[in-house]
Amino acid sequence: MKQQIPGPLVTIVLDGVGEIDRTEGNAVKLAHAPLYNHLRASSRFTTLLAHGKAVGLPSDADMGNSEVGHNALGSGQIYDQGAKLVNDAIESGAMFAGSVWRQLVDRVLRNDATLHFFGLLSDGNVHSHIDHLIAMLRRAASEGVTKARVHALLDGRDVGGTTAQIYLKQMEEVLAVLSEQGRDFRIASGGGRMTITMDRYEADWAMVERGWNHHVHGKGRTFPSALEALETLREETPGIIDQNLPGFVIADEQGPVGPMRDGDCVICFNFRGDRAIEMSRAFDEGDSFTYFDRGTKPDVLYAGMMQYDGDLPSPDHYLVGPPNITDTLTEFLVPEKVQMFAISETQKYGHVTYFWNGNRSGKVDERYETYMEIPSDRVSFDQRPWMKAAEITDALISALASGTYRYLRVNYANGDMVGHTGNLDAAITAMACLDIQLQRLLAAIKKANGVALITADHGNCDEMFELDKKTGQPKRETDGSIKPKTSHTLNRVPFIVYDPHGHVKGGLKDDPSFGIANIAATTVELLGFEAPKRWCPSLLV
Ligand code: 3PG
Ligand code: CO
Repeated sequence: MKQQIPGPLVTIVLDGVGEIDRTEGNAVKLAHAPLYNHLRASSRFTTLLAHGKAVGLPSDADMGNSEVGHNALGSGQIYDQGAKLVNDAIESGAMFAGSVWRQLVDRVLRNDATLHFFGLLSDGNVHSHIDHLIAMLRRAASEGVTKARVHALLDGRDVGGTTAQIYLKQMEEVLAVLSEQGRDFRIASGGGRMTITMDRYEADWAMVERGWNHHVHGKGRTFPSALEALETLREETPGIIDQNLPGFVIADEQGPVGPMRDGDCVICFNFRGDRAIEMSRAFDEGDSFTYFDRGTKPDVLYAGMMQYDGDLPSPDHYLVGPPNITDTLTEFLVPEKVQMFAISETQKYGHVTYFWNGNRSGKVDERYETYMEIPSDRVSFDQRPWMKAAEITDALISALASGTYRYLRVNYANGDMVGHTGNLDAAITAMACLDIQLQRLLAAIKKANGVALITADHGNCDEMFELDKKTGQPKRETDGSIKPKTSHTLNRVPFIVYDPHGHVKGGLKDDPSFGIANIAATTVELLGFEAPKRWCPSLLV
């Protein structure tokens, strides 16, 4: 039902705040969050799907993530996402029949050079999947490539916190088999994903510089093998989780085994863009690149698994076409001259801008879109679980008071970024901090005669313990302590309509198949428009 609320509409994304009845290990339930609990009990409230097929992932066993979640929120549609598109391109053979794969392999063969791969070594299926890497290595070998190097970023964030040995062993086995018959396929460098290479939104270019030096120049602390590096680095910092491990370089008697040389080719096997763009720019850009000193840049051909940003565009070469996300909420509201405001802190800034607009970092129309980024701290966020929630709220309150904007959107990063540290106490504090800021924000929305839609892109801090699938009980470390969970969850997410003046007509439809892609249609209806037919239907009766 189309209806027009008189004041502004605000979408509030509580990143990583899922819904589940269990209290144990659930920071959402354990936190002192009187406002959130009151809203759940007294407003229009339901829960929505935010994982698996409801957001375009290959299967319902795939947890949600911020990329697919914000794509769904911002487009009102469900697209096959990177994980699925790459699976399909490998299965059908389209990836290997494509011109970019041919160029890469031909160049390596012509130059008798090395094919390098770097990316996140796990089966998290958020940024990458180890199976994609294995398929490419096997194919390269079958096409005559004799020398390949893997630069392995250790996960512990989309998978269990200390699981890197599983993926490294699997990789070593695959490489050993491929190295028979005169090939030379090896791991050359690596490190924790939150320490090297995988920065995002230019939060910390020094991470990318460290990654560049390890992967490209073979400069870093050396070890005889990746598994030995892992063992030593873990021993040196007891309790460290994989994502925070320092970088390492593999060396033999002749020195580092895999510096990149003129004539080589490089593939980033991550399909998700936010944490791949900066390294892609370091490879693709010429002398105009000033973020760090790359030293002597080898003459390599670089390709990403996907196009990571459709507006930059980046990278210059990619193996699989990205989801072609069109008819987004922003594209709908611009011709209607709706003034929009988007805000978050650095860690999630691109989520409410670039992911929201279908992986495009530019604006549809400058005249109707205002973006604001609050710089994030550069720490592990269990050390500062409040993050920039207060500063974001200050800015939002001013934006509301200005009377300029009819549609505002915000992402609060706390539930997710603190959730990823595995620190339950910090996550509980994060939720309590959020509640205080929500109190301030909702008061300002009430004053502006507005309405808010409160939701999340996926779960995370709602389950801070790893659970045994069979017993449902928390898993234990060898010392008896509970095993912290650092990754997202498969849980549903909240959808709350905050409507202090009773402007919204009708209740919420009760359909368990609805997901976060249904929110865009709800949004435009409340702004007085009819939602496009191709969008998922509105949640309002
Ligand atoms: C990350 O990149 O931090 C995680 O892999 C996924 O988290 P996000 O999808 O919430 O950004
Ligand atoms: Co996350």
